Amino acid sequence: MKKIETIIRPSVFGDVRQALALEGIDGLSVTEIAGIGKQEGRIGMFRGNTYKMEFSPKLKLEMVVEDSKVEAIIEALLDYAATGEVGDGKIFIFAVEEAIRIRTKERGDVAVG
Ligand SMILES: Nc1ncnc2c1ncn2[C@@H]1O[C@H](COP(=O)(O)OP(=O)(O)OP(=O)(O)O)[C@@H](O)[C@H]1O
Ligand SMILES: [Mg+2]
Repeated sequence: MKKIETIIRPSVFGDVRQALALEGIDGLSVTEIAGIGKQEGRIGMFRGNTYKMEFSPKLKLEMVVEDSKVEAIIEALLDYAATGEVGDGKIFIFAVEEAIRIRTKERGDVAVG
């Protein structure tokens, strides 16, 4: 199992959600976050004045999936979260030791699918 964590623009959430549903993702956590990428958090210049660039509102999506779904989900995210402008976000993949559905005590792939 892998945990896919992705930071996306709030504006693409609807399309991303639908694309993930088509890939069979029905368990998902979403958090509103404030993020900084390469272009933010440094000193900008506008009409001769300097200013500190700010955090941007983003969404963090977290999903734990069976290994066989990972590539299709990455493809869906690359297709539906991209605008081509700076700030489109990131995808991080983590190995997951175990997943347990509390109600049934099921473990592993069956607990996340
Ligand atoms: N290395 C990182 N670790 C954790 N979160 C990150 C990292 N880089 C970016 N993020 C998160 O992703 C959001 C969007 O980042 P962003 O897409 O601007 O990255 P970037 O590296 O600046 O790429 P780009 O040049 O396309 O803008 C950030 O606001 C932050 O929430
Ligand atoms: Mg950026």
